[in-house]
Formats: sequence, structure tokens, C-alpha cells
Amino acid sequence: MSVVGIVSMKGGVGKTSLTANIAMALATRLGPGRVSVVDLDPQNALHWHLGVNGTQASVCKQTLRGDGWAGAAVASPFEVSCVPYGMVSESDREAFEAILVKSPGWLGKNLQQAGLGHDGVVLIDTPPGPSVYLKQVFACADLVLIVLLADAGSYATIPAMEAWLEDMAVLRPELNSFYVLNQVDKTQVLNRDVTELLHQHLGERIAPVGIHQDEAVGEALAFRQPVLVYDPHGQASHDLARLANWLIDVLNR
Ligand SMILES: Nc1ncnc2c1ncn2[C@@H]1O[C@H](COP(=O)(O)OP(=O)(O)OP(=O)(O)O)[C@@H](O)[C@H]1O
Ligand SMILES: [Mg+2]
Repeated sequence: MSVVGIVSMKGGVGKTSLTANIAMALATRLGPGRVSVVDLDPQNALHWHLGVNGTQASVCKQTLRGDGWAGAAVASPFEVSCVPYGMVSESDREAFEAILVKSPGWLGKNLQQAGLGHDGVVLIDTPPGPSVYLKQVFACADLVLIVLLADAGSYATIPAMEAWLEDMAVLRPELNSFYVLNQVDKTQVLNRDVTELLHQHLGERIAPVGIHQDEAVGEALAFRQPVLVYDPHGQASHDLARLANWLIDVLNR
């Protein structure tokens, strides 16, 4: 099993969209039963991207009940299983996060026990910025993909992410990380200029495939489908398939 965390310091850069859509692109390559996603963001939005009923299971509630992850992975119509965060009260969220603070190995242990993505890949969606969820992901991931937009807002968060990576490297020197550019739009001067700046600054730490700005990504979400299903021949689907091929190489799958 390979564990891939999808993270960013900045909000709204496309983490949840990429988690669901990269998972779909990987499932297309690897075949059924080999790709899962886990929602570790209290926004509880990931299941929506995959047409999964978000009330069936809740990793938060099951943890609070001490039930482990039995039955937490819900099958989607798209050959990717999904562990939803769940719709929870504020007090449940706080109690869950307190458990995560006390048990830094919680995620890794549960992924192993649940047998998720056996011989496959598990992608984990996270909330923006530093959090107890981000710590859990960094404690067990094989690879972390840091999503960036080619704008000044994302650029400004790079030092915070680099500082976090440096701290984590003490605990997990073997952890691999790449920046992934999302919503690339070569028709916009600023987008082009920041992309160039990011390549100068981060070099080979930027994944060789970025995802273009494509309105089909948002439209697919409105239909609760991965963009690869909604618009299989569009630009974003093409990029996602290439990114999945690169990821399979990096993970040696
Ligand atoms: N490549 C893309 N092209 C066009 N729109 C995109 C693309 N990627 C994401 N979006 C849109 O950007 C918005 C934010 O995406 P998303 O919710 O996935 O971001 P996020 O990083 O998960 O946000 P948060 O930090 O709140 O969790 C959504 O409206 C989504 O449809
Ligand atoms: Mg999100």
C-alpha cells in the first residue's frame, strides 16, 4: 500500500478536487479495488466528488465510538472507495481531534488494519494549513503532494510549507514530497510569470505535470462525478491521466 497526502498551507487551491480526481485517474490505470480516498477534513466534502452518500460512514464518529475503521470505506460508483469524515457536531470534532493529538500513529495504524488500498494507493485529503490532520498524514505518508496555484497567495505560503517539511524531515527523513501546480492558465500573464518563478525557486520539486484551469472540474462536481467521467477528453482529464502515470512511477506501482 502507498499512502499519498494531498496538502497545502493555502485554502481553496484544489486539494479535495485533486484527491478525488487523481484517485479516479489512478483507478483507471490500476484497476478496481486498488484505490481509496480518506477525508480528513471536517468540511466533509470529498465524498461529494465521488457520488458517495456521506451519511453512511464517518471516520470521526467511528473513532469516537472506538469502532476502528470497520465498514468505514464506502464503495463509489467509480471504482474508488471513500472513507468520509462524516457530518459531526462541534463537540465531536473537538473530541476526535483530541484523540488525534494523543495518538500520533492513529492514521497509519488504522490504514493498515482496514487493509485499505491493499496492493494499491490511498489518497488522504486534508484541511488547509497546519493541523492535527496534517501531522497524522506526515507521520505515515509515503509521498505528500503540495497543491499550489500560480498566484501570489500560494507563493507567499511556500516558506511556511518549507518550514513544516523541515520539521517533519527530522521524524520522517524518507518522506517524499512534490509541489503540484493547479489551475494553470497560460493565457494569463500573472499565472505564466508566477509559474516561471515557482520553477526557478522549486526546480525539480515541482511535479512534471500541472493541472490546467478547466471549468469542467467545477461542472463535474455539480454532477457529483470525477472530471474523468464527466469530460473524459477535456484538458483536466488529460492532465490528470498524465499526473497519475507519473505518480505510479514515483510510487513504483
Ligand atoms: N483545475 C481546475 N480548474 C478549474 N477549477 C478548479 C480546478 N481545481 C479546482 N477547481 C475549483 O476550485 C475550487 C476549490 O477547489 P477545492 O474545494 O478542491 O479546493 P481545496 O483546496 O480542497 O479547498 P479547501 O482548502 O477549502 O479544502 C472549486 O470550485 C473547484 O471546482
Ligand atoms: Mg478541500
